[in-house]
Amino acid sequence: MTMVKMKRIGVVLVLIMVVVVVSEAAAAARRHDYGDALTKSILFFEGQRSGKLPPSQRMTWRKDSGLRDGFHKSIGESQIGIRHIDLVGGYYDAGDNVKFNFPMAFTTTMLAWSVADFKPFMGTEHQHALEAIKWATDYFLKCTRMPGVVFAQVGEGFSDHNCWQRPEDMDTLRTPFAVSKKFPGSEVSAEMAAALAASSIVMRTSNRTYAARLLSRAKTVFDFANTYQGSYNATLGKWVCSFYCDYSGYQDELLWAATWLFRASKLPYYSNYVLNNIHKLDPPYNGGNFAEFGWDAKHAGIHILVSKLGFANHLQPNPFLINAEKFVCSVLPESPTPKSVSYSPGGLLFKAGGSNIQHSTAISFLLLVHARFTSGSKRTIQCGNVAVKPNRLAQVAKRQVDYILGDNPLNMSYMVGYGKKYPQRIHHRASSLPSINAYPRKLQCQGGTSYFFSSKPNPNILVGAVVGGPDINDRYSDSRADFPHSEPATYINAPLVGLLAFYKDH
Ligand SMILES: *[C@@H]1O[C@H](CO)[C@@H](O)[C@H](O)[C@H]1NC(C)=O
Ligand SMILES: *[C@@H]1O[C@H](CO)[C@@H](O)[C@H](O)[C@H]1NC(C)=O
Ligand SMILES: *[C@@H]1O[C@H](CO)[C@@H](O)[C@H](O)[C@H]1NC(C)=O
Repeated sequence: MTMVKMKRIGVVLVLIMVVVVVSEAAAAARRHDYGDALTKSILFFEGQRSGKLPPSQRMTWRKDSGLRDGFHKSIGESQIGIRHIDLVGGYYDAGDNVKFNFPMAFTTTMLAWSVADFKPFMGTEHQHALEAIKWATDYFLKCTRMPGVVFAQVGEGFSDHNCWQRPEDMDTLRTPFAVSKKFPGSEVSAEMAAALAASSIVMRTSNRTYAARLLSRAKTVFDFANTYQGSYNATLGKWVCSFYCDYSGYQDELLWAATWLFRASKLPYYSNYVLNNIHKLDPPYNGGNFAEFGWDAKHAGIHILVSKLGFANHLQPNPFLINAEKFVCSVLPESPTPKSVSYSPGGLLFKAGGSNIQHSTAISFLLLVHARFTSGSKRTIQCGNVAVKPNRLAQVAKRQVDYILGDNPLNMSYMVGYGKKYPQRIHHRASSLPSINAYPRKLQCQGGTSYFFSSKPNPNILVGAVVGGPDINDRYSDSRADFPHSEPATYINAPLVGLLAFYKDH
């Protein structure tokens, strides 16, 4: 070998090394550990558990709580004197200790959708995801056990918000609230039916008996919600409307539940229900709310899911597909059509109201589902004069996930316990107060006040909790008092579970 050749080889080697180093640095900046984030996003639900914790509980700083839930006088059905019904279990919705069944049901529907569509990418987390779902469905089976009655909430928001207390020793009002034939609540009942139906799909592989029980209950509860129509606002508004008021009406939940019942049962009764009642979605279903999706409004989710299930394909044009694509176009930054969202300078999707990352995760989830549907059906979406390829939808959704995990101007992860820098003072009673392990004596209602105002980081790391997130200028104050930004919520995480599973493998 001549000297010249050796030198060349040397140069080539150096070049290769430079390329490797540069691309590794770029990959480190770009590539997140989606598998780790997935594990954590599911683990979070253990921190939200109410009831008797099982030996398999991994988040061990949490203990049993709410063990007498249901054994108090109920409101709503107090007229017929329901006492002593077991309502132990379920989830605290966010940083407080109330079991709000309306958002809890939506959370469960989204967890089940995450598994229904993304199970192949979940690996060993599949089992944990099923456990997270079952924690809710076991509770919903209790809430719907009495024919003609659905429990809508356990715990009283005002009493709860008046205290900064651990769930393990709360002595706030644990009033159960119910809806009934006479005092209906179609939104909360139908969302529970949706959750039960969606969960029955994913439970089949692990336990057919349990899955059948969920589906059968979903049918009964849907029937109740549909036959006795009305909003829980009317009777429970005084208690629910400062927290989870139903602003968008209940037709969306009825249609959404029917769509899930169709997916679970394949019975034409449910697809016909959707086709025959879609016109009731108000404001006119092809206008106003088409781009809303969250614990209150299911509109965009209905259009995306019906498009995917294909039972409206005989309609030409297919109004569900038109609305699904109108929704997609209203989200894509480059689309010339009117926007339903805005973006911070750093790229986070925004909609009005608090806990903004709920919109980022829920909408990204729909984009990804539609990307996979569009890719499978070889469609191109036309947003005005801009043609959009399916891969672009998946990219926009991934950008949201990456922002949440740390690709943002503050270089911080909005998932607790993920990455180097994450929220330290989340608005969460259990996380911010010493655990029972560290402080076994009871903390009274006001006993937690000094912890609330402390500038110290929370003592218990609620691993996997995703907070409301930064403001529209990508700033984050990391303050317990700033709950619209620092509070986690189960419905922020639920759609993220599916997204993380997918990006782990893609
Ligand atoms: C399956 O579900 C049924 C009904 O909930 C339950 O009784 C049974 O123990 C479950 N089986 C297994 C193997 O978990
Ligand atoms: C529920 O109450 C809120 C606040 O009073 C109101 O804006 C909303 O329209 C009501 N929703 C329904 C479905 O009646
Ligand atoms: C975030 O990271 C980028 C790239 O490493 C760096 O240029 C920037 O200064 C960091 N910003 C903050 C607020 O730490």
